[in-house]
Amino acid sequence: MIKLEPLTGHHERKAFDCSVEPLNIWLKQTALQHQTKGISRTFVAIPADGQIVDLYRSLGYDDISAVSILGFYALASAFVLIDDLPSDIAKRYPRQVPVTRLGRLAIRADLQGQGLGRLLLADAVNRAKSAAQAVGSAGLFVDAKDETSSSFYQSFGFRICDDQPLKLYLPMW
Ligand SMILES: CC(C)(COP(=O)(O)OP(=O)(O)OC[C@H]1O[C@@H](n2cnc3c(N)ncnc32)[C@H](O)[C@@H]1OP(=O)(O)O)[C@@H](O)C(=O)NCCC(=O)NCCS
Repeated sequence: MIKLEPLTGHHERKAFDCSVEPLNIWLKQTALQHQTKGISRTFVAIPADGQIVDLYRSLGYDDISAVSILGFYALASAFVLIDDLPSDIAKRYPRQVPVTRLGRLAIRADLQGQGLGRLLLADAVNRAKSAAQAVGSAGLFVDAKDETSSSFYQSFGFRICDDQPLKLYLPMW
């Protein structure tokens, strides 16, 4: 149904709406600049081919085209202090730990609840793990924007830091 590829200027960023304005604005104004400078890498979900575009249109998504962004996520390198990790996991590490930060994950508001978020998160974990074969990274770290998104990540095995429920961590090794 979808394919995931690195964000480029060809993708239709302006129309994207996940109902969380800071995430919409970040995609429209910042993602491509950060991509160009190597600060973060954004991956977008777009329809897999013309047939899928036709399928979406037949279902009433009239604005969807071959370059429409259905969802996206961004990865970057980061260091976290062990104070920001669950204490039982922190015991395994030195004081500063190299991690991969999942900075943003969002699905078009009218496509939420159809399994796309799960797909994008799985792709982010796989991509982070392959990158960590070449450049050390102990796990995936997320700053969730609120309790609801924190519970989304927890349902996929991310652990919250003891007294900071919006900081989440998934060890990769
Ligand atoms: C959070 C978000 C990425 C989830 O994507 P989605 O496509 O709606 O999620 P999926 O349909 O793949 O759902 C996957 C599972 O997560 C659960 N889930 C979805 N949203 C959830 C939420 N907000 N809290 C808890 N669980 C959630 C679903 O129930 C589903 O579980 P199930 O398969 O056992 O039923 C999406 O709702 C979104 O873009 N929200 C706005 C932006 C945002 O809040 N991003 C969070 C990161 S900062």
